[in-house]
Amino acid sequence: MSNDNNAQYHDDVVLRLIQFSIFWAIVAMAAGVYLSAELIWPTIDFSQPWLSFGRLRPLHTNGIIFGFGVSALMATAFYSVQRTCHVPLFGHRLAWFCCYGWQLVVLLGGLSLLAGWTSSKEYAELEWPFDIAIAVLWISFGVVFFGTLAIRKIRPIYISNWFYGALIIVIAMLHIVNNLALPVTLDKSYSLYAGAQDAVVQWWYGHNAVGFLLTGGFLGMVYYFLPKQANRPIWSYRLSIVSFWAFTYTYIWAGPHHLHYSAIPEWVQSLGMVMSIILLAPSWATMINGIMTVSGAWQKLRTDPALKFIVLALAFYGLATFEGPMMAIRSVNVVSHFTDWTIGHVHSGALGWNAMITYGTFYFLIPRMAGRELYSTRLANIHFWLALAGTMLYIMAMWAAGVSQGLLWLSIDETGELGFSFTDIMSSMAPYYGLRLIAGLIFLTGTILMAWNLYMTMRGNKPVRVTPPAVDPMYEVKA
Ligand code: HEM
Ligand code: HEM
Repeated sequence: MSNDNNAQYHDDVVLRLIQFSIFWAIVAMAAGVYLSAELIWPTIDFSQPWLSFGRLRPLHTNGIIFGFGVSALMATAFYSVQRTCHVPLFGHRLAWFCCYGWQLVVLLGGLSLLAGWTSSKEYAELEWPFDIAIAVLWISFGVVFFGTLAIRKIRPIYISNWFYGALIIVIAMLHIVNNLALPVTLDKSYSLYAGAQDAVVQWWYGHNAVGFLLTGGFLGMVYYFLPKQANRPIWSYRLSIVSFWAFTYTYIWAGPHHLHYSAIPEWVQSLGMVMSIILLAPSWATMINGIMTVSGAWQKLRTDPALKFIVLALAFYGLATFEGPMMAIRSVNVVSHFTDWTIGHVHSGALGWNAMITYGTFYFLIPRMAGRELYSTRLANIHFWLALAGTMLYIMAMWAAGVSQGLLWLSIDETGELGFSFTDIMSSMAPYYGLRLIAGLIFLTGTILMAWNLYMTMRGNKPVRVTPPAVDPMYEVKA
């Protein structure tokens, strides 16, 4: 694969991916807001199957993870791998193929979910034709990324690339293994696995999609964009490497914590629980490494919206990775499982960590690409407070809802009868769901403000052309 423009970094594709990412964020979050409203007023599906909770929910999760998340990951991986390797992207046209091909899959895949096509595996709902397209596109992503590493001019491979590399390799493996299925028609296939085996494979996939996509990939962002924006080197490079390997090794075993008290063997559940608790160590090592990187540059936090988002994201990363291991303990999971506590945990990660780190990165990238200041720092600061308020309100409402659901369901009276009926418990949830709806609206409003601010920053501009700088001979790849 040849590079059609050897002299300069290929940033056009990065910009387009950022635009798509923001577009999907708004669409998928709007679906999330609608879902929140449906849980309060169930009749607002107007008896339309495509508007029902069961169809909109996977649209929300797929749209946000694959549309918003993956587009942002591709954009930032392409941007940072060029800078850390001092070469333009390998296979520029292939990168465009990944960009547009991916958007087409998200669009058509989303429509297929609304039409009711589903393999019924969470986060892997798309049917087999989409699975094949995803595999081809993901491998192309890998070719561009690893191809760029292969032609690098600088010998060491910077830590962010290890995380992006792990994201690409592990997600390819999970996606292909979990989606092995027998197609019967265009819109229906049956998994090759059955029963408890199917559950184990599915949650090996599900948990590591969280681990390597929603966590590992976004840690790649942290390691490149945090030191850049703070203008300081990583506090401990050695710690970043150690925590990378500890993280990679441990995550892959933790999936069974999704299957506590199920038909899978108890020792498998215990393995998942123990590995989840161990996972606290590399997760917090990474969080501390990130926070310490900013120490000495704290004054920047007052004025720099990008850095504010990135540091807040690290704090939420710490929170979610403390809460997760606790929820993995069987005696805690007996309360949290099936309740809104899980939804609170998910969104402390999703809003507080994934969305915030991405927003910080976009506030870093767009002014640089436009070659001018951010259109409005004031708007970005308002966005920051809206995002923080929305996230806090969302997770506090869900924690309160979840813990009360869990405890009320478990309560029995002196005769051994259930203390509360399911419907009583459900109807007592209305105030919490109301708060979540408000929280979602606040968070979505902030995201729309960011879209406007970044649009005005970039308006009428193409990405500034950047030429790779000369490589220090000490680090140069020798021919
Ligand atoms: C405006 C912001 C958002 C709102 C209002 C919202 C709302 C919702 C709602 C109502 C559900 C269904 C809960 C249930 O079944 O009881 C849900 C599920 C989910 N959302 Fe969001 N969401 C938002 C943003 C996000 C973001 C940014 C992400 C990811 C980066 C995300 C990832 C998920 C996931 C993974 C689930 C499934 C959770 C599970 O099955 O346990 N959401 N969301
Ligand atoms: C040390 C790190 C973490 C551990 C050990 C962990 C553990 C857990 C546990 C025990 C559950 C509940 C399983 C159940 O009862 O069904 C869960 C659910 C979930 N977690 Fe985490 N978590 C961690 C970090 C994160 C982060 C950073 C995110 C990022 C968004 C995240 C996203 C999710 C999602 C999406 C689910 C819902 C899965 C589903 O049932 O659909 N987790 N996690």
